[in-house]
Amino acid sequence: MEKLFTEMPVITENEMQNALDFSSKQVINNLPDFTYKFQKAYSENGFYQPIENDDWTTGFWTGEIWLAYEFCKDDRLKKAALIQVDSFLNRIDQKIAVDHHDMGFLYSPSCVAAYKLVGSEKAREAAIKAADQLITRFHPVGEFIQAWGAMDEPENYRLIIDCLLNLPLLYWATEETKDEKYREIAEKHIHTAIKNVIREDYSTWHTFYFNMQTGEPDHGATCQGYRDGSAWARGQAWGIYGSALAYRYTKREEYVDIFKHVTRYYLEHLPKDMVPYWDLEFGEGSSQPRDSSSASIAACGMLEMAKYLDETDAAYYTKLAKQMIKSLYDNYAVKDPDTSNGLVLHSTYSNHSPYNTCNHYGVDECNSWGDYFYMEALTRMLKDWKQYW
Ligand code: GLY
Repeated sequence: MEKLFTEMPVITENEMQNALDFSSKQVINNLPDFTYKFQKAYSENGFYQPIENDDWTTGFWTGEIWLAYEFCKDDRLKKAALIQVDSFLNRIDQKIAVDHHDMGFLYSPSCVAAYKLVGSEKAREAAIKAADQLITRFHPVGEFIQAWGAMDEPENYRLIIDCLLNLPLLYWATEETKDEKYREIAEKHIHTAIKNVIREDYSTWHTFYFNMQTGEPDHGATCQGYRDGSAWARGQAWGIYGSALAYRYTKREEYVDIFKHVTRYYLEHLPKDMVPYWDLEFGEGSSQPRDSSSASIAACGMLEMAKYLDETDAAYYTKLAKQMIKSLYDNYAVKDPDTSNGLVLHSTYSNHSPYNTCNHYGVDECNSWGDYFYMEALTRMLKDWKQYW
């Protein structure tokens, strides 16, 4: 294994404590505005505005509250998170903006977390209903979970790499209910996704289309990346964390290899400070915006995989994760609550390019999952974390 980034410093335990301490205080300070409301997906000029529980991203905010609760055990956090659990149960009961694949992003860090941490039965009910909702998007022809849009339209007959993070909800549902249907669907989707979204050079497609009649793989395309053939930085990070989780749940040896190669591609396309530009097409010195959230996601994926590897490999990926988080802590994390109510700056949600159809929003801002995964990575490094995914 050729060594990369050998000179970069790792985050110390003291710095991890400081980072989680600041993050937890920031979360507590946000509770008055964000208990009955949720954070918008991205900040504007550094500040999140409150929204209803109707976007795919609201679970990350509740997840931050739970992670802060795990760190400092302040009862105000538990109380607020449980109020949000009520909202998640209502959302799935009323079917408010749930006809898409993001049930895992919504319900794992909010409700599965609530059930695991404090035994909330309401949270359990909500998360199982969310798993039931998620499997309605499975296509037996093609064997994948469709990300967005109506289920009978060829232009929507595709999976996206991000979905690998939605599948732990299904494994959890099988574990809880003993009904194998959730696990079987998750397994089929993982297999189809990994077979198709990983390119020969281990860069990744963001999205992949299938033939509606035959289920045969058709073609890859980007949605949020710079162009079809490039590697969207967050997509590659979803691939790193997603392949680690795929291994955790299936124990298929080939996913270890996939993880190593997809991670390698990512590392080889990072600028010097280990925080990618929004697409891996852009390297050191580019004037393009960064996506700091991608680094936090990749760090969590490496820390997850390290649990299953031999000592040498585990130490290698753990060190890389600690270096990445150190870079975020030093140069990207919010230090002053007067400048932002978020945690990590310089993230990119949706950036327009000449080759994609994205609108421009949440560019060079905090975003909700960037903040969440930063806290998750810090928590993973400080203790043996009982994970939400
Ligand atoms: N899952 C959507 C995104 O990463 O922006």
